[in-house]
Amino acid sequence: MTDDLSQVRFPDGFVWGTATASYQIEGAVHEDGRLPSIWDTFSHTPGRTAGGDTGDVADDHYHRYPEDLSLLADLGVSHYRFSLAWPRIQPEGRGQLNGAGVDFYQRLVDGLLEYGIKPWVTLFHWDLPQTLEDAGGWPARDTAERFAEYAALIHQRLGDRVADWTTLNEPWCAAFLGYASGHHAPGRTDGAAAVRAAHHLLLGHGLAARALRAQGATSVGTTVNLYPVDPATPAEADQDAARRIDGLMNRMFLDPLLRGSYPADVLKDLAEVTGTDHVHDGDLAVISTPLDFLGVNYYSRHVVRAGTARPGQPSHWVGSEDVEFVKRPGVPVTEMGWEIDPDGLHETLTRVWREYGPLPLYVTENGAAFPDEVTGDGRVRDEDRRSYLERHFAAAHRAIADGVDLRGYFVWSLLDNFEWAHGYSKRFGIVHVDFETQRRTLKDSGRWFSEVTRANAL
Ligand code: NOJ
Repeated sequence: MTDDLSQVRFPDGFVWGTATASYQIEGAVHEDGRLPSIWDTFSHTPGRTAGGDTGDVADDHYHRYPEDLSLLADLGVSHYRFSLAWPRIQPEGRGQLNGAGVDFYQRLVDGLLEYGIKPWVTLFHWDLPQTLEDAGGWPARDTAERFAEYAALIHQRLGDRVADWTTLNEPWCAAFLGYASGHHAPGRTDGAAAVRAAHHLLLGHGLAARALRAQGATSVGTTVNLYPVDPATPAEADQDAARRIDGLMNRMFLDPLLRGSYPADVLKDLAEVTGTDHVHDGDLAVISTPLDFLGVNYYSRHVVRAGTARPGQPSHWVGSEDVEFVKRPGVPVTEMGWEIDPDGLHETLTRVWREYGPLPLYVTENGAAFPDEVTGDGRVRDEDRRSYLERHFAAAHRAIADGVDLRGYFVWSLLDNFEWAHGYSKRFGIVHVDFETQRRTLKDSGRWFSEVTRANAL
C-alpha cells in the first residue's frame, strides 16, 4: 500500500523516542561492583558470537552517557527507552542493592530530565545475573520471585523520577533463543526448559507489575516481539504450520498477558515436549494483571510452510521443528536478512487492538541494520534506513487512522551497538559509532528523524 506522506501528522502528545539496552551499549562490565550476567559468560565462550565479540566495552555508554544524552536532545525526542542492568543494581540477583550501580542510573535519569526527556525504563533486557542462572535461571520458578524483588527495590530508588516502567523485553527471545536453540545466552538447548522459562518470565512480569503498582506506579507495561505469520500456500499443512508458529511466537505471550490463559492449541502442541506442572494455580491471574500499555517490537513478517523434520537439531520452534521459513522472492531485506514489510506493522498493531484490546499500544522497537559507512565529508548516507523508518511510521499512522490507540514510537536504535550473537557486525543505530575510537556520527536517518520528532509529522 502507498501512503500519501503529505498528510501524515501524528496525534498531539505522540511519544517519539529511541531505544537501547544495557548490555548492548554500556560496557564497563567490571566497574563499580557489577558482576557478570549470562551475556558476559556467553559472549566470552568461544564460538558463541560473531568474531568473538563481547559487550566488555560496547559503546562505552557507562562513561560517555553525557555525550549520548546531548545526542538525544539534538534528536528532539520526548522519551528515551533504555534498560537497567540487573547485575549492576543487584549483582547477585538477590539481596541488597549495589549503591554505585543505582547511582549510575540516577545520574542518567537526572541527565535526561534536565533535557526535558522522559525516561522509559525496561527492567529486564536479557542480562540476567549469572548467579541466578547458576541457580537454575528462568526455567526455575525462584527467578520470577527474584525479579519481582529487584523490580520493587529499584522502583523505590527511581520511582520518584521515572513514570513509565516496562518489565520485560521480548520474553520470547529470552526463553526460546536462550534455552531452546541456544543462539542467545545462556545457550542452553532444552525445549522443555524454554517453555518453563517463558512461563516464569511471564510470572516474573506479573509479580513485578503488582509490586510496582503497590508502590504507586501508574504506567506499567511489558514489551513483546510480534510478527504476522502467513502460510506459504493455502494448503492445510501450511496453514497448520502458520498456526503453530503464530501460537509459539505471538499468542503464547499475548493470551496469558491479556486473556489470562494459554492458547489451548499451543498447550496441545507442546504437551509431548513439556508438562504443565510448572504452571501453578493462580499464576495466570498474576500474569494477566491489567497492563497500562503494551509495547510492541516489530521488525518483519514470517512466511512458513510444513517441512521435513530435522531431528537432533536444536531449534527455538519447540515442538514445531519441522516448520520451514520461506523467503518471498523479490522482497527486499535488511542486512539481517529480514524482509522489509511495513504492512506487517499495520497488521500487527490492528490485530493486537482487535483481538486483545482496547489498550494503549507503543511501538517500543522498530528499525533496520544496514552496512553504513562514514564518508570523507563526515556523513553517513543511510537512505535505506531513512526510507525503512518512513514507511513504517506511515504504516503506524494508518493503524492510528484505523482506530488503534497507538501512543508512541521508539526507533531501534539510538546507537550502533552489540547486536547479540552478531556482535558489532550489524549496525541498527541512527547514530554511527566507530568502535575503535568511540566517535559518534549522526546518520542522515537521524537528521531526518529529528525533523519528524519536531514536526510530529512526516
Ligand atoms: C530486539 C531486541 O530487543 C534488541 O535488543 C535487538 O538489538 C533488536 N531487536 C534488533 O535485533
